[in-house]
Amino acid sequence: MAQVRIKNIKKSYGNHVALKGINLDIDSGAFFTLLGPSGCGKTTLLRAIAGFHQQDAGEIFVGEESIGHLSANKRNVGMVFQDYAVFPHLSVFDNVAFGLVQQKVPAAEIRQRVTDILATVQLDQHAERMPHQLSGGQQQRVGLARALVIRPKVLLMDEPLSNLDAKLRIDLRRDIRQVQQEFGITAIYVTHDQEEALSISDQVCVMFDGVAQQVDTPWAIYNRPENRFVASFVGANNFMAVDTTHTDSAQLLGQKFDAPAAIRNQANCVAAIRPEKVLVNRALTGNGLQVDGTLRQSMFTGRELQLLVDVAGHGVLEALTAPNETMMAVKIGDTVSVGLLAADILYYAEGETGKLLS
Ligand SMILES: Nc1ncnc2c1ncn2[C@@H]1O[C@H](COP(=O)(O)OP(=O)(O)OP(=O)(O)O)[C@@H](O)[C@H]1O
Ligand SMILES: [Mg+2]
Repeated sequence: MAQVRIKNIKKSYGNHVALKGINLDIDSGAFFTLLGPSGCGKTTLLRAIAGFHQQDAGEIFVGEESIGHLSANKRNVGMVFQDYAVFPHLSVFDNVAFGLVQQKVPAAEIRQRVTDILATVQLDQHAERMPHQLSGGQQQRVGLARALVIRPKVLLMDEPLSNLDAKLRIDLRRDIRQVQQEFGITAIYVTHDQEEALSISDQVCVMFDGVAQQVDTPWAIYNRPENRFVASFVGANNFMAVDTTHTDSAQLLGQKFDAPAAIRNQANCVAAIRPEKVLVNRALTGNGLQVDGTLRQSMFTGRELQLLVDVAGHGVLEALTAPNETMMAVKIGDTVSVGLLAADILYYAEGETGKLLS
C-alpha cells in the first residue's frame, strides 16, 4: 500500500520549470531515494512534500489523507537538512528533546524517548555536550535523532551526508538504514551520489530536468536503465554508435553482428555496455563479437584493474576486471582483444534521454 502518493506535482520559479509533473507511489516502510544531478528538482520536490512551499499543481497524500493544504508542522513529516541545523545553544539532549517539548509530551516520557534514540544513534555518551564539542558526523546524528524521536510517519532527508568524509558517510548510511528499518519509517532520501542511492534504497527515482526518468529497484536501475540518461548517470557505461546503414547486417565496432530485431529499423541508435562486462584478452563464451584494440591505459586500484582500450576508428572503451598478473604484464601500446557478449549489450534511441530499445 502506498504511504506517500505524489500526483502530478508541478512547480515553477518564475519562468523556470523545476518540476514537470511528478507522479510517485512510495510504499509504507520503504526507503525511497531521489537521485539526480544538481538542479534537477530534488530539493524542490522534498520541500513541497514537507510543506515548506506550495506546489503550483498536483496533490500529495500521506495514507488516505491529502496533505497539500496542511502547514508544515501539521503534516507529521520529519525533515533532516543537509546543513545539520542543530541549535548551537542547546545540549545534545535538549536538541533532541526540542520537538517533544513543543508537543507537550510529559517530562518522564521525553527523558525515556530521548535516551533511547541517543543510544540508537550511538550518542548516549554525549548527551550533555554542546554542539560545538561534536564532530560533523556527530552533529549530523543529532539532527537525525531529533527527527526520529518525533516518530514521524514519513522522514525526509535532503543530502544528510553530503558534508562528511567518505568513511563516515558509509558508517552513517548504515546507521540511517538500520534505524529506518527498525522503526518502520517511510523514508524519502535525496542524494546525487549514485552508489549511496543504490546501497541504501528499496526504490530509487532517477530525476533529470524536473522529470522522474525511472522509478525502480536498485537492481533494475543499474541492470536495465530505461533510458540513456539513467544509463549514463548511474554507474559507468560505454556508449557505441550502431551502424544500421548496411542492408544485410548492422555493425558495431566495425564488426557485423546479430542485431536484435528492435533496432533493425532504427536509423540511429547507440549500444551500451558496462565496463565490467567488457572482456579483454578473454575467450568469448557465448554469442557476441570480438575485435582487436590498443591498450591505452592500465590502472591498478588494488580491488580492480581499470583498462582503456582504443578500438581504431570506433573510440576508446573502458574495461574493468579483477586484477591478474597476466593482464598486469600487458604493456601500453600492445594489441589486446576486446569481447562483448550480446546478452550484456543494451540499445538506446538517440538523444540525451533516448529510450531503451532492447
Ligand atoms: N527559490 C528559487 N528561485 C528560483 N529558482 C530556484 C529556486 N530554488 C530552486 N530553483 C531552481 O530550480 C531548479 C531545481 O532546484 P533544486 O534546488 O530543486 O535542485 P536539486 O536537485 O535539489 O539540486 P542540488 O543537487 O544542487 O541540491 C534549479 O534549476 C534551481 O536553480
Ligand atoms: Mg538540493
